[in-house]
Amino acid sequence: MNIDRVVLAERPKGEPTKENFRFEKVETPKLQKGELLLKVKWLSLDPYMRGRMDGSKSYAEPVSIGETMQGECVAEVIDSQNNGFKVGELVSGQLGWVSHAISNGKQLRKIPKSNIPEQTSLGVLGMPGHTAWVGLNKIAKASPGETIVVSAASGAVGSLVGQLAKKKGLRVIGVAGSKIKCSYVTEELGYDGCINHQSVASVGEFKELVARYCPKGIDIYFENVAGITLDAVLPNMNEFGRIAVCGMISWYSGKGLQEAMAFPKFWRTVLVKRLRVNGFIIFDHKGSFPEFRKEVSPLIQSGEIKYKEDIRDGLERAPESFLELLNGGNFGKMLIRLK
Ligand SMILES: NC(=O)c1ccc[n+]([C@@H]2O[C@H](COP(=O)([O-])OP(=O)(O)OC[C@H]3O[C@@H](n4cnc5c(N)ncnc54)[C@H](OP(=O)(O)O)[C@@H]3O)[C@@H](O)[C@H]2O)c1
Repeated sequence: MNIDRVVLAERPKGEPTKENFRFEKVETPKLQKGELLLKVKWLSLDPYMRGRMDGSKSYAEPVSIGETMQGECVAEVIDSQNNGFKVGELVSGQLGWVSHAISNGKQLRKIPKSNIPEQTSLGVLGMPGHTAWVGLNKIAKASPGETIVVSAASGAVGSLVGQLAKKKGLRVIGVAGSKIKCSYVTEELGYDGCINHQSVASVGEFKELVARYCPKGIDIYFENVAGITLDAVLPNMNEFGRIAVCGMISWYSGKGLQEAMAFPKFWRTVLVKRLRVNGFIIFDHKGSFPEFRKEVSPLIQSGEIKYKEDIRDGLERAPESFLELLNGGNFGKMLIRLK
């Protein structure tokens, strides 16, 4: 049997392209004692993968040229030489952009049998959901009555941030990239308002729109995108406001950096408004994963919290789907379903 995999063929110069990836087939090695063979059912595509394509080290090592692209998967055990795992069990783990994988089981999480779809372990009940929960509760320390602005509001992280914030009694304003996404954010997710960043003609207009939607100013900005959204939000922050810096996707490929707000202006606003700007990386918060799952799983089960998935079929579609994700082409958690 062969394993299909997608490797990094070359590093992107600016915006990534399909040519940066290469498909390969490799023969499955024989299982050794203690190992298990996994068939991948779902692959998660996430913005952080863009950073791993660059050569420079950030909070994690980059993917090497010729190495399999990193990614979290849901997979089924199809053969096992490991007493801890039985054939037919479902697990999640960092297996990469592959059809099958061999593992010693150490870094895998078993997915308990339930009526919740298994792929939510990669989205609303997985890393992105945990990020939303940590960012809102532990980093921003949101309180009832406050106003929060959430960028990439219809996405995997943003959609849960806003819903949890509404449940806590905050005024919640989203920013998203189309009319349809904004309607979903207000009508389905229950946000109090949503600004379509694609429809604003200038930063000035964007800033005024934010002010109109947030008449009492902004206490918390949940930062997912940076770029002109940050420019429009920052002047509307209240004194002693908090910014939870989760991501800055609009800058990941270097676009928009020339037009970005001058650093001295940004820094001055942080001082004058006495803002607390707190970057966070979810891998530092592994310990709170059970608490997050305990709180959010029942809300998913009861339908109180909604989530949306953007499902593409076939590993061969992973590169093009990933490129779309980086440009707002997804509507909901981006997932690849493998046959
Ligand atoms: N700190 C951490 O540990 C951590 C963990 C997970 C995720 N993150 C970060 O959280 C953010 C959201 O991740 P996600 O998985 O939930 O992705 P997502 O929101 O499901 O998808 C990415 C979204 O970003 C928006 N976007 C892309 N380019 C943009 C641009 N130039 N300007 C404005 N918006 C743009 C698009 O939404 P619109 O069409 O609505 O603009 C796109 O749909 C990312 O920045 C990611 O890196 C951080």
